[in-house]
Amino acid sequence: MTTNRLRTHWQEIPTGEGIDEPARVYAKSMHNNPYDHYLERVAALGLRGERMLDAGCGTGTWSFPFAEFFDRVDGIDLSEGRIALARAMAAQLDSKHVHFSVGDVLNLPYEDHTFDLVFCYSVVISYIPIRVLLTEFARVLKPGGQLFVVLNGLGFSYHLRDVRAKADPKYLPLGVRGIYNTLIQSNRAVTPQAVRDRADRLKAHPGLARVRKAQQLPMPPESFLAGLGWAELDDLARRIGAECGPDYVRTLADDVIRIMTGSHETFAHAKAGRGYAPGEVAADLKATGFDAFRWAQEERLFARLGQRFSRGHLVNGHLSTWEFIATRV
Ligand SMILES: C[S@@+](CC[C@H](N)C(=O)[O-])C[C@H]1O[C@@H](n2cnc3c(N)ncnc32)[C@H](O)[C@@H]1O
Repeated sequence: MTTNRLRTHWQEIPTGEGIDEPARVYAKSMHNNPYDHYLERVAALGLRGERMLDAGCGTGTWSFPFAEFFDRVDGIDLSEGRIALARAMAAQLDSKHVHFSVGDVLNLPYEDHTFDLVFCYSVVISYIPIRVLLTEFARVLKPGGQLFVVLNGLGFSYHLRDVRAKADPKYLPLGVRGIYNTLIQSNRAVTPQAVRDRADRLKAHPGLARVRKAQQLPMPPESFLAGLGWAELDDLARRIGAECGPDYVRTLADDVIRIMTGSHETFAHAKAGRGYAPGEVAADLKATGFDAFRWAQEERLFARLGQRFSRGHLVNGHLSTWEFIATRV
């Protein structure tokens, strides 16, 4: 595989067996810049080694430039259409050392201690439980190997709600849902397990009848969860009310009651996008066998290449898209 061949054929999106139209549309949007745009970003990271994993590789947008710095690149993704397209790209680009597989990043089909680098770009945005994912990454990394992750912060949801929704209203519910999901999932006190643990007490609590009644009102009073005597839930409800509006306080109450009564396992929108904060991720990394966590804000890893890589900015004081590197102990 030569850089010139990649430069020439980068924006030719193949067709063929197993390649579906959504994969082609996706690949077109991912290859909307010339190849050098991706190569420069990868080169600037200064990461080198024998074997790397592109976890959740999509159509291989990053796998190909990484293959210029590693002897072998493995790309894995759940989407069969995207993997079929990535394989066709590899054939078109005459790449012998990029290998694509359909598979789940939470259950990687690789031996322990296989990779010098695991790279994961915009995959940790949804239902994926980050601790399980990091444990799996730690397993397949060689000791001393590196992990590079690009993920969303809460600022990304604010950006959808406050900026993108102005141009296209469809982003408004996506942003608000992402905020709700982030606030709920990053809360260490009000978890589905904590609700289950308290279920008997909550069921017997006189405040529960008032909550159920308030749920029927067109506009429930702002503090209608306060009567349950659970301070952390009350704080969470207040924050959700302020950020997402009263409808989402009602969603929270519905969630608590459904989990409490055993009809649901998780909070609503568990599969929607969510944001992470550096402190939260640093704690999970420490617990899963990583150290030397470096995260980037204004001085993020891509920033030195100039304005066109400016996706790590703050929105309402929260990181939007951000990156970190950690080392496997
Ligand atoms: C936003 S795309 C990013 C793709 C690629 N990393 C890139 O930057 O071009 C997220 C990708 O993660 C994949 N994905 C989501 N959950 C996954 C899982 N559990 N295992 C493997 N891939 C997954 C999706 O199929 C999708 O292609």
